[in-house]
Amino acid sequence: LAKLTGVGGQVKVAIIGAGAIGGSLAEAAAAAGHDVLLCVRSAIPRLEVEEAGSVRQVPVRISADPARETPADWVLLATKAQDTRSAAPWLERLTGPASTLVVLQNGIEHEDRVRALVGEAPVVPAIVYIAAERIGPGRVVHHAGNRVIVPQGERGASFARLLDGGPIEIRQEADFTTAAWRKLLSNVAANPITALTMRRIGVMREPAIRELARDLLLETAAVGRSAGARLTDNDVEEMLTMYASLNQEGGSSMLYDRLAGRPLEHEYITGAVVRAAERHGVPVPLNKAILGLLDALNEGLRGKAIG
Ligand SMILES: NC(=O)c1ccc[n+]([C@@H]2O[C@H](COP(=O)([O-])OP(=O)(O)OC[C@H]3O[C@@H](n4cnc5c(N)ncnc54)[C@H](OP(=O)(O)O)[C@@H]3O)[C@@H](O)[C@H]2O)c1
Repeated sequence: LAKLTGVGGQVKVAIIGAGAIGGSLAEAAAAAGHDVLLCVRSAIPRLEVEEAGSVRQVPVRISADPARETPADWVLLATKAQDTRSAAPWLERLTGPASTLVVLQNGIEHEDRVRALVGEAPVVPAIVYIAAERIGPGRVVHHAGNRVIVPQGERGASFARLLDGGPIEIRQEADFTTAAWRKLLSNVAANPITALTMRRIGVMREPAIRELARDLLLETAAVGRSAGARLTDNDVEEMLTMYASLNQEGGSSMLYDRLAGRPLEHEYITGAVVRAAERHGVPVPLNKAILGLLDALNEGLRGKAIG
């Protein structure tokens, strides 16, 4: 699939976004011996990954100027989904006829999000099970998890080989639709509720919140089934049990974005559920209400709040 174009015959891997997931993938690609280019929008001097109190410096080349770059064998998009369009200059420069793009983002519409920006390049959607956090420019903390799920097939296998031997396991999944909707299920209640209430994950244990979460999840599972995902009410109960088992002081990426005053990813989580529901004619009144609230909150973060 990918031909060798990197330094000294190495495979060239370009990663767009030096945040929690981009930093983690950059470390994995460097550990696998590749020529790694980290593409940032504000220059950073280095990339460091912190884990269990120790800090590792990752050998990457850092670039803040798409115009200076040439195509890579592999391009890994690891911005938040709402920043995809702003990464267009990178995608244009880095994807050539032999490139494969992997989209490591939450949500379900990975290929739709990038198709217009990458011409004919093959696109591999990826579901991320890594808990990491960007705590400052070029500084990422790895908390837990090391799994990325891609569709089974030639390209998925090729991506798994790319990162073979490193700290991240690339798992190929025959039923990727179900895997993607299951991940969406894990985000669609906890992320909005923690962001809207400005409460940590312990809020999910409160009886009224648990009922709201259950109803949001039941709506989402119904839409997922219409889209071909094999999800049952049992998956919903398992998700509620999982929420209740989490460290109460933990958060969600949407809560962290709200706390930092950054735009939210809600259009690609709750918004994705509502769009799919409209396509399949499934009623989702609660997700629609939550989407309205998150839209209003997001506008507030963009400067329309009182005070
Ligand atoms: N973090 C997790 O534990 C986790 C777990 C599972 C899934 N995910 C998903 O993984 C995806 C990435 O999330 P994340 O947590 O890694 O986000 P993040 O820590 O906020 O990092 C995103 C990075 O992308 C950069 N970026 C944005 N637009 C850019 C552009 N046009 N050019 C270059 N860089 C750009 C940002 O730059 P600035 O530094 O300039 O803002 C930031 O460093 C999201 O879809 C998220 O939902 C995350």
